[in-house]
Amino acid sequence: MPKISNKGIHMPESPIRKLVPYAEAAQKKGKNIYYLNIGQPDIKTPKIALDAVKKSTIDILAYSRSEGSETYRIKIAEYYKRNHINVTHNDIIVTTGGSEALLFAFGSIMDEHDEIIIPEPFYANYNGFSTSSGINVVPVISKIEDNFALPPIEEFEKLITPKTKAILICNPGNPTGYLYSKEEIKQLAAIVKKHDLFLIADEVYREFVYDGIEHYSILQEPGLEEHAIVIDSVSKRYSMCGARIGYLVSKNKEFIKTALKFAQARLSPPSLAQIASEAALDTPQSYFDDVKQEYVKRRNVLIEELKKIEGVKVAKPNGAFYCIAELPVKNSDDFAKWLLESFDYNNDTVMVAPAAGFYSTPGVGLNQIRIAYVLNEESLRTSVKILKEALKAYKD
Ligand SMILES: Cc1ncc(COP(=O)(O)O)c(C=O)c1O
Repeated sequence: MPKISNKGIHMPESPIRKLVPYAEAAQKKGKNIYYLNIGQPDIKTPKIALDAVKKSTIDILAYSRSEGSETYRIKIAEYYKRNHINVTHNDIIVTTGGSEALLFAFGSIMDEHDEIIIPEPFYANYNGFSTSSGINVVPVISKIEDNFALPPIEEFEKLITPKTKAILICNPGNPTGYLYSKEEIKQLAAIVKKHDLFLIADEVYREFVYDGIEHYSILQEPGLEEHAIVIDSVSKRYSMCGARIGYLVSKNKEFIKTALKFAQARLSPPSLAQIASEAALDTPQSYFDDVKQEYVKRRNVLIEELKKIEGVKVAKPNGAFYCIAELPVKNSDDFAKWLLESFDYNNDTVMVAPAAGFYSTPGVGLNQIRIAYVLNEESLRTSVKILKEALKAYKD
């Protein structure tokens, strides 16, 4: 039989989706599952975005420009200006989701066996994108006890080798919900300038910041023009995960020129979705105010209720819509499977994401789970109650 690649063999399974067969089997048995495992918001997509597609009169669904339509990119640049980020449409490439933006960024700045330093736990697909790009992730552990704040900058410095090309952060973080302060961004800026590295910030959750704290983008940091690369996406901002639109943003002309070659090779980002995403930029501020209020309410309920369970430790997120919880279990992978296969509370159970897949250091995060608070308040309360009863019943 012809052999598949080593890269393919080493490509990690999604820690979020690998439990799906267990969930399907549980559903077939008639169990009701509360899905806390996946970042698919239940928030409605802005009507203005959906209407733009419905009203569109195009008669040929053509390719767009590889870098995305010009009118759309001009409007994106205006969005950034409103967010105190000074870029032009020439600094932006529209991609097929933030996922493709990550792949293009990795491909444009790293060769095989190069290294990227990432504070962990991190968005699990960074592992997958690194494997497909043939590069090595070098993790720095951030701790639940510190709310997953930036690890001391000396920890990063110790890991820099001639192979290191970039530091990648997610701000605010998936799966931690941590929002980096201006001071932390300045520390990162100083180290990438000192060692002449790229600083990639995945800012797809930029709008989801709470408690009156402002988001500080790496593109706002003076002197970082040649180093800063931002990954962005409409998926969560407008609850448009299925549109598959994201963007790469950088003032580094050489980087944009290189990333454009990757964009040309795949011809164009989706055309209809660009129409929807361009219209979404006119979403009224009241939409975001309501969404934010809803997430704050959910976060508060979730954290308060989790803290009441004996043996559970949880970090308080200031952004995004995830939190990491440490459970009194040895292996959350086994626990998550058991929840689906062998447990129910009044015929209900919950699906959670075991957190080990968000670390690249083996053996770390084994007793942690990631919870996405993308369900309404009542469902969240029920979910935590189920978790509490499950922990009472579970023997590992
Ligand atoms: C941190 C982070 N970055 C990037 C993505 C990719 O999003 P998309 O490809 O839908 O834009 C996600 C999706 O969940 C994410 O959580």
